[in-house]
Formats: sequence, C-alpha cells, structure tokens
Amino acid sequence: DTPFENALESLRAGDPVLVHDAADREGETDLIYHADAVTPEAVARLRNDAGGLVCTAFDHETADAFGLPFLSEEIDHPATTDHDLGYDERSSFSLTVNHRETYTGITDSDRSRTIRALAEAAATPERVEFAEEFRAPGHVHLLRAAPELLDQREGHTELAIALADAAGLPPAVVVCEMLDDETGEALSPVDARAYARRNGFTYLEGREILSRLG
Ligand code: 5RP
Ligand code: CA
Ligand code: ZN
Repeated sequence: DTPFENALESLRAGDPVLVHDAADREGETDLIYHADAVTPEAVARLRNDAGGLVCTAFDHETADAFGLPFLSEEIDHPATTDHDLGYDERSSFSLTVNHRETYTGITDSDRSRTIRALAEAAATPERVEFAEEFRAPGHVHLLRAAPELLDQREGHTELAIALADAAGLPPAVVVCEMLDDETGEALSPVDARAYARRNGFTYLEGREILSRLG
C-alpha cells in the first residue's frame, strides 16, 4: 500500500496521521484524527505530542447546515477587517464550542465529549439542532473548509477533510499543529517523520494528497 492508502486506512481505524502542508505555506505538520476517534487519550496525545491548537474542521456543507460562519465575517470589530495572513487568503476559523454536557470544557474528557458529539452531528446533520447540543464560546475551535475544497485552498483544513471524504468518513476531522518542545517552533518535517515512524503512524506531504485528490 502507498502512504496515501495507509492514511485512509489509519483514519478509518481511528488512528492519527501526520500531514505537512508545504514548505512555502505554513510549513507545519498537523496531527490529524477523524473526529469520531478522539477519545480522552487522543486529546492527551494532541496536547502532549502535538502541542498546538486542537481544532475540529467541518466541510463547507456541514458548517452551513449548522449555521457556522467564518468568524472574520461575523464579528464586527476592526481587528477582523484585514486578514493579512502571510500564507493564505483567509483563516478557516469559525466559532469555538463546548458540548452542553461539559463542565469547564477543557479537560481531556470534556474536549473528547465535545469533539465526538461534533463527529456524530456531522454524520447526521439533518437530525441536529446545533445550538441545543453545543454552546459558544467554548474550548474547541471549529474550522470550516473552503467551498471548493482543494480547488480553492490547500490548508490542513481542506487536506484533512479531503482525506476523510476519500476514506468514506463523515466530514469532521481534528487537526493540531506539531510544535518542537526544544525550540517552540513548528516541528521540522524530519522530526515529524521520525515521530510518525516511532509510533507507527503515516506521514504525508500535502502534495501527495493534492496529486491524488486535488
Ligand atoms: C489552526 C490553524 C492550523 O494551521 C490548522 O492547520 C488549520 O489551518 P489551515 O487550514 O490554514 O492549515 O491555524 O490551529
Ligand atoms: Ca509537547
Ligand atoms: Zn495548518
């Protein structure tokens, strides 16, 4: 099997995969799970081994079904008017949420509760009254993928949603940047690959996904 096929199999099995976007974009490797697989132990791995921001991404249709906006379009504050990102047209941030049955929202069990409920919601959006189940603000960042997915944007948001689609899984994934504990910078691709190898996880370059699905 190719690394691409292994990645699809991993996501189906509930295992994480690592995806480096591109040296000329963020130059970051995200640890990625299908949202349904994010147990409390997976949240612990995300915060201990990845260390970045734990986010749940939906595809465009699902975000629309739940009325989840791009945050920058919804907040009327001068700080949101200019998205001068160095690496893309705009960020994919939407609201932050907690499941209503969580307490503080930040513990491993609370974040897992929220994320797995988001996965379940994405599997049957027509049955979900989003605001009855989730409150905002919360401790899980939501992201929404570009409408045209990889034709429009090549971020981890779109790369991860495209992998879930290709794996035949509902469009809800969790992404978190791998940071280097020594330097505080993005973990280098060499070190990210080594982490993947040590743990038996699949590592992919964004271009390997783009050549199959782009
Ligand atoms: C949220 C981010 C990450 O970079 C995440 O990978 C999603 O963003 P993008 O789609 O731009 O790569 O900023 O922590
Ligand atoms: Ca760490
Ligand atoms: Zn990213």
